[in-house]
Amino acid sequence: MHSILFLASCLAASTVSAAPVFSNLYDFSDDVAEYLGRVSRHISRVEDIFDSSLSCDPTSVTLPSFASGLPAPTDGQRALYVALGRGTQNYTCATSTADSEPVAVGALARLYNATCYAANYPDMIELLPAIAYRMRLPNDESSPMAPANLNLIGHHFFEGKVPVFNLDTTAQRQLGVAKVKKDADLDAPDTAIQGANGAVSWLYLSAVNGTVPNGRYTGVYRVDTAGGSPPKTCEGLDAQFTVEYAANYYIYGQ
Ligand SMILES: *[C@@H]1O[C@H](CO)[C@@H](O)[C@H](O)[C@H]1NC(C)=O
Ligand SMILES: *[C@@H]1O[C@H](CO)[C@@H](O)[C@H](O)[C@H]1NC(C)=O
Ligand SMILES: *[C@@H]1O[C@H](CO)[C@@H](O)[C@H](O)[C@H]1NC(C)=O
Repeated sequence: MHSILFLASCLAASTVSAAPVFSNLYDFSDDVAEYLGRVSRHISRVEDIFDSSLSCDPTSVTLPSFASGLPAPTDGQRALYVALGRGTQNYTCATSTADSEPVAVGALARLYNATCYAANYPDMIELLPAIAYRMRLPNDESSPMAPANLNLIGHHFFEGKVPVFNLDTTAQRQLGVAKVKKDADLDAPDTAIQGANGAVSWLYLSAVNGTVPNGRYTGVYRVDTAGGSPPKTCEGLDAQFTVEYAANYYIYGQ
């Protein structure tokens, strides 16, 4: 609830200039819907974030301050895209008893272009995963993602053990592919939306061989996580299961 109140103050402050329009709030399944519905109506006459007067220049993008617990971008690395990720973290269990623990085996998520949010509304970008976590993905991939009408910019998945961020979405939009490995992790802050079992950690992932174009992407930060962690033990769980999550991915490169 704290975050939601914070959102309200951000929205109130931003009505003087262009502000994002939140929509599809019917997807909310709890009392947050009622609250956000009111916020949304409040700003409904305000211009959309994609007003051409707004800069979407990623050079003004900075990581959330809590990410200072992860390795900082090195000289020459700059933020290229910020994506809201929404999907599942995948786990396996050796047995369905309390004797085994879930093992992370990958993830599958859609990535939505939140670069303009990050460039213009650094306080609000941090809240997007908390909201998106409570919402379903649109059935049609080409539909924008609620609550902020973000367009698909790519997919996150695993090739074997290698996390992949594929930013080629259509024949016209070929932004390349970042393949990465985990370099550092950081427990999500207490303020994170925990979901049933806690928020997955924040990560710094560095690019590995196979990234396209070669050398373009240098690393990816997973921050502002919501949900995604497994139960502590496998008791009563299937051999394979998924846990819903959302996060912001800051994609760095040169
Ligand atoms: C994760 O789970 C989803 C949904 O079951 C599945 O489509 C995807 O292939 C899985 N990916 C990995 C790496 O396990
Ligand atoms: C992200 O969205 C902004 C605003 O619509 C747009 O200007 C920018 O080109 C988009 N970036 C990509 C890579 O799609
Ligand atoms: C990187 O991948 C390319 C193409 O698959 C391969 O030729 C090269 O040997 C790889 N380099 C390293 C360091 O693994």
